[in-house]
Amino acid sequence: MEENYFSNLNTKTIGKKVQCHKKVTSTNDLGWLEVSRGAEEGTVILADEQLKGRGRFGRDWFSPSQKGIWLSVVLYPSRFPEETFLLMSIGALAVADLLKNKFGLPASIRWPNDVIINNKKIAGIIVESKYINKSPNATVMGIGLNIDIPDSEIPPDLKDITTSLTKETNKATSIGIKEIAADLICLLDKWHDKIINRELETIQDAWRNFSCVMNKSVSVKIKDKILEGKIIDLDPCKGFALLESNGNTNWLRGETVEMLRLI
Ligand code: BTN
Repeated sequence: MEENYFSNLNTKTIGKKVQCHKKVTSTNDLGWLEVSRGAEEGTVILADEQLKGRGRFGRDWFSPSQKGIWLSVVLYPSRFPEETFLLMSIGALAVADLLKNKFGLPASIRWPNDVIINNKKIAGIIVESKYINKSPNATVMGIGLNIDIPDSEIPPDLKDITTSLTKETNKATSIGIKEIAADLICLLDKWHDKIINRELETIQDAWRNFSCVMNKSVSVKIKDKILEGKIIDLDPCKGFALLESNGNTNWLRGETVEMLRLI
């Protein structure tokens, strides 16, 4: 991907600097390298291919060459206390916004940040933060969006649970990966700007509206415990409210919930 393609994105924070690489271990690794070099907030790192792409809870992220958007963004959420939590929602919101409004797809968000089309995962987001004196001073947000992964290349364990953009649009998309990446960066910046401007109600509404788990019965794994109940509310900062059959309601957050399944 050519860097100068991204030189005029006209964004406020995210995408003012964009690095493009061919083959990397993980764009998140490069994100942390950039943090150590004092990179500007909003620096984006894109790669054609990742050899060791990572997902949440130490899972691998399949990232073949030029078959998806594999990107990371460097952010420094230190303006107000809830900023880090809000950041965790904007990756999924930007991807869902892109898929719905640019491609007309029925995108939804499976809490906390899987983007789903027709019950299959098309994108995942990982947010890594480093805390110093209890206040997170650097965050790398990684987004993986499958664009065109042919069935023959998908590892067997992912075949039934993942999808990609070309499959869902029923055609080889004529829009190139870098154009889609540019649109995604602009949407990330749009949602990030809503955090900066404290448009919290807009974020909250979108978070509920895109959710496919709101008002649904779910089973969740927390450490070695499985809880079942109904999700009765969602909040980007507080997590989700689970109403259990014994009548108890608990707010649960992403860092503790290892698995969430609709039942
Ligand atoms: C998940 O669903 O578990 C999160 C997947 C995140 C994958 C992206 S691809 C770009 C960035 N670099 C990584 O190593 N991971 C993220």
